[in-house]
Amino acid sequence: MQLPKVANVTDVGCRDGFQMEKEFIPTEEKINIVNRLSKLGFKRIQITSFVNPKAVPQMKDAAEVVSKINREPGVTYSALTPNLKGANNAIDANVDELDVFMSVSESHNKANVRMQVSDSVNAISDIIALAKEHNKPVWVNLATSFGCPFEGEVSSKNVLNLADKFVSLGASGVVLADTTGMANPVQVYELVSECMKNVSADKICLHFHNTRNMGMANILAGLQAGVNNFEAALGGLGGCPFAPGASGNVSTEDVVHMLEEMGIDTGIDINGLLETARYLEKIIGRPLPGQVMKAGQSCDLHPMPGS
Ligand code: COA
Ligand code: ZN
Repeated sequence: MQLPKVANVTDVGCRDGFQMEKEFIPTEEKINIVNRLSKLGFKRIQITSFVNPKAVPQMKDAAEVVSKINREPGVTYSALTPNLKGANNAIDANVDELDVFMSVSESHNKANVRMQVSDSVNAISDIIALAKEHNKPVWVNLATSFGCPFEGEVSSKNVLNLADKFVSLGASGVVLADTTGMANPVQVYELVSECMKNVSADKICLHFHNTRNMGMANILAGLQAGVNNFEAALGGLGGCPFAPGASGNVSTEDVVHMLEEMGIDTGIDINGLLETARYLEKIIGRPLPGQVMKAGQSCDLHPMPGS
């Protein structure tokens, strides 16, 4: 099977994971998790979001998290921002990269950021311009790229046009996000292959949720199409608070484990990652969906019965 030799996995658990948690996670624990992840070989970690704290109270400590983490050289620390206010706050807090977001479908965009798609496009264009002035790279997250919980099918033409537009405006890349786990592997292969006709593979990142257990298969389909940038959340935590039935992201440690088992180098310390996932489980206080943290790695040997 022809697959990329290396892959980049970004952990987004401290944002996509934590934002769904009803109980406030103490700021020092958030910082603890980021600091642990920082030592494991990630090149990019999404650590928080600069959103309206009334809409997502869990993220009210965004600036404090950014200011108090220990920054490791070689790691890009990014934050999600929905609008110019969030982008300004993120720049003031000195994040390394802005991850802006909008939904491809009108109704999810309305539910999530209270804007029409055309207004989001304008807002993101302004943020890309602002970020350029501050020398900050911008990645654009296109939520509901593979389907919308309110509208169903999403036109792939709309996804491709938005991807094209933002990259030509100077975005570092686009994240095609399957916000509520509707994507299937054939769809992923086809959409990504189409997208790569205009946008190079290094400017495409894939973000899958495992809501319907298709997350890992979708990652393989993305790899087969030639993309090797993926987002995942530690322990498989996560989901969008503005999408009914949303559930966990693919779990970072399961993705890293699968990639490494397939001979694809992630540069990430899987043992340290599993330890961190188990630590996170203690903080969250309930079993997390990640599977390798429970089963152990494929290479772990067990004593034979009776020996
Ligand atoms: N950070 C902090 N506060 C913000 C903000 C931001 N990025 N954007 C707006 N606000 C504040 C405004 O200052 C205003 O505050 P006030 O009530 O004290 O005056 C209030 O929010 C309303 O501002 P408005 O411009 O009318 O925005 P809105 O209410 O339409 O909110 C969003 C738009 C997108 C900022 C808000 O809905 C939001 O943050 N949603 C969260 C989306 C999210 O995180 N989704 C999950 C990720 S996929
Ligand atoms: Zn997500």
